[in-house]
Amino acid sequence: MEHFKHLPEPFRIRVIEPVARTTRAYREQAIVQAGLNPFLLDSRDVFIDLLTDSGTGAVTQDMQAAMLRGDEAYSGSRSYYALADTVKEIFGYAYTIPTHQGRGAEQIYIPVLIRKREREKGLDRSKMVVFSNYFFDTTQGHSQLNGAAVCNVHTQAAFDTGVKHDFKGNFDLDKLEQGIVQAGAQNVPYIVCTITCNSAGGQPVSLANLRAVYAVAQKYDIPVVMDSARFAENAYFIRQREAECRDWSIEKITYECYRHADILAMSAKKDAMVPMGGLLCFKDETVADVYQDCRTLCVAQEGFPTYGGLEGGAMERLAVGLRDGMREDWLAYRINQVEYLVNGLEAAGVVCQQPGGHAAFVDAGKLLPHIPPGQFPAQALACALYREAGIRAVEIGSLLLGRNPKTGGQLPCPAELLRLTVPRATYTQTHMDFIIEAFARVRERAADIKGLAFTYEPPVLRHFTARFREAV
Ligand code: F0G
Repeated sequence: MEHFKHLPEPFRIRVIEPVARTTRAYREQAIVQAGLNPFLLDSRDVFIDLLTDSGTGAVTQDMQAAMLRGDEAYSGSRSYYALADTVKEIFGYAYTIPTHQGRGAEQIYIPVLIRKREREKGLDRSKMVVFSNYFFDTTQGHSQLNGAAVCNVHTQAAFDTGVKHDFKGNFDLDKLEQGIVQAGAQNVPYIVCTITCNSAGGQPVSLANLRAVYAVAQKYDIPVVMDSARFAENAYFIRQREAECRDWSIEKITYECYRHADILAMSAKKDAMVPMGGLLCFKDETVADVYQDCRTLCVAQEGFPTYGGLEGGAMERLAVGLRDGMREDWLAYRINQVEYLVNGLEAAGVVCQQPGGHAAFVDAGKLLPHIPPGQFPAQALACALYREAGIRAVEIGSLLLGRNPKTGGQLPCPAELLRLTVPRATYTQTHMDFIIEAFARVRERAADIKGLAFTYEPPVLRHFTARFREAV
């Protein structure tokens, strides 16, 4: 069927969750009650929910069936071994700890790696720095809670929506190495490779870049953690764009990528397609000591290490989801759906980051140039979109970035983006067309959209619970 211009969804839909349409007057009241913050809207008031692709997508028939095989034994469960064996086959990693979600893995490996560096290399906590192409919020949060300064060493082009590049998620290797030398390698307890790079718009990291990062890390004896939420989408992009891998399977690319890291931390709610779940895995005996320390901490924080944060059925479902999420026809469909949305928005005059894996990132700064960053143009756009069509999207800009903890001033943000995150196999092409039409309508009245001012600003992680009024 390759000769067809548009291939439809490679699946049938057999479960229905009804959603209600609402009136503009109803939505007006709802968004005001939510303090002009879409996070505070009730799900029943949302027509199309693009807040996240995390745990919000459809699951496959085989995943659902696998749930019934669950062995709920407290220790040494058969379902644990089903999951650990799958991890070994796909990623080549010897040791597995299941966690309740991605941040469950972070709360374990981060303090363990810091203590190990302290013990073995004399890390000075007052000089501790960790590096990433871009830390996801919770990875940044756990690093900071443990006293580390975070440094994102992304490429210059990463946040420039005017520039196209095959691998906008790549590390800037010079900045990485310079940063390590400056901090003193002993003060760098880990490097995190985020694939795909969520914050830059689901942009991929190349295999060549992963190899080069690992070479730098090995030179300075620093462990590399693969933050793996969207590992399959990253492999798909590598297959499309990196000459060496053009004829490789997704499986082969994935295996090769993970040779260039030591630890796998995963929010399994994305590419592994489960509503809840995570993984913390270790490559081989070189990190066996880290695995042991993580097992100990896991008992206190998540659960006994052979179930961690998951019930037996959920471990079986995850083992199947890891494989189902790597199907090439499925990945092609998913990436094409996001591209369709981005192209439609661009055709309607809405500037976006080049299409990434899981979301369209609209450049709200360009759409609403009359709203300064301090009045959160992307949050204002989110409210306008909800009022227009009941669509919920999420700000990725100054509001999310927050303040400098030392000075209290707003941190300068590289771009004011609105993320339209596409849940897996949940919305159809008609939904994409509806979103594009909603944007075209919002754009017509863009000049009338007002910036926002806080009526309540929490001290940390403010974007989740802040409340606003329109700025005058
Ligand atoms: N790492 C990345 C790259 C992520 O995107 C996320 C979550 C996490 C770690 C944390 O995992 O939520 O399972 O605890 N991202 C979601 C999002 C929330 O909307 O992008 P978690």
